[in-house]
Amino acid sequence: MGKEKKDNKKKKEKEETRQRALSKDGPRVSSFVYGCWRLLDDPEGSDVKRIRSKIDACLESGISTFDHADIYGGYGCEEVFGRAIKDSPELLKHIEIVTKCGIMLVDPARPDNRIKYYDHGGNHIIKSVERSLKNLNAETIDLLLIHRPGPLMDPEELGAVLDHLRKSGKIKHYGVSNFTVSQFKMLNSCTDRKLATNQVEMNPLHQAPFLDGTLDYMIQKQIRPMAWSPTGGGRIFNDSSEDAVRVRTAVQEIASRYDMEPDQVLYSWLLMHPSNPAIILGTNRPDRIRKAVESRSRQLDKQDWYAIWTAATGVEVP
Ligand SMILES: NC(=O)c1ccc[n+]([C@@H]2O[C@H](COP(=O)([O-])OP(=O)(O)OC[C@H]3O[C@@H](n4cnc5c(N)ncnc54)[C@H](OP(=O)(O)O)[C@@H]3O)[C@@H](O)[C@H]2O)c1
Repeated sequence: MGKEKKDNKKKKEKEETRQRALSKDGPRVSSFVYGCWRLLDDPEGSDVKRIRSKIDACLESGISTFDHADIYGGYGCEEVFGRAIKDSPELLKHIEIVTKCGIMLVDPARPDNRIKYYDHGGNHIIKSVERSLKNLNAETIDLLLIHRPGPLMDPEELGAVLDHLRKSGKIKHYGVSNFTVSQFKMLNSCTDRKLATNQVEMNPLHQAPFLDGTLDYMIQKQIRPMAWSPTGGGRIFNDSSEDAVRVRTAVQEIASRYDMEPDQVLYSWLLMHPSNPAIILGTNRPDRIRKAVESRSRQLDKQDWYAIWTAATGVEVP
């Protein structure tokens, strides 16, 4: 391919990963989001230089949104990311930060937690956001998500604290993660603003949101989901379970037919869904980050899509 054609292709891909709103009043995020859960598992380390190389790979590819949670890396990922921000505070002008709260882990960093549990109380949510801001070296969180629902969640208390945080400027938008439709509706009825998104697991090995009404509801309400573990956390590439092997085989066949990488096939598969998910990448490899965004300009056909779906279920559609 000639240089000019290559440059145009790159420009087109960057343009295609540009930001789009998650919902009517929600934040704009890039089509691909970089997930920071595995930052401390990177075999190349997690010093500022390495973190910066991944941030740069994202920005060069049109990925401007970074997904965190207070608990990632044993409460350590926000802090290592924050060191890169401290080193280059101007980065904050070019990125959006998503973070989550509400899960309490048994971890040396939280000696008071005797068991894993959820805390949706106002005091905890405020403290968690303040800690995230400090760790990230940021003035505001672009999007705060309640990480998981729980049986003790009081929607009135939670809605009030989300609005309080928004009015104080500590967060700009709020949403949820792993909520059922009824939990989403319940909390949505107790906030001044509408919830911006529901971040859910979406991949061929986790079909629940495709089938249980989660994505139907979001399409109906024009709220885009954020899709976590798009490659099943890597299971599609390395797991020996029967369903993973079947999906791997189907994905590899499609990848070789289209001259694509297998992970690109999975991202294209998700992008075909009408809920228009923002896909959260979990790879630690800058080369995989760069290649991921190319999948926006690659089209599978419907039979490819169903070949992967069917490989996962193990049965032909009815
Ligand atoms: N809201 C929630 O409850 C929730 C839960 C889980 C995750 N998340 C978010 O979603 C993000 C993404 O989740 P995830 O990390 O599970 O995503 P993922 O992209 O499905 O999995 C990433 C893993 O797959 C491996 N991988 C990717 N491409 C590969 C390939 N072609 N061949 C072999 N291995 C490959 C990566 O290894 P390499 O690093 O070697 O590429 C990495 O270990 C997280 O970072 C987090 O921000 C949210």
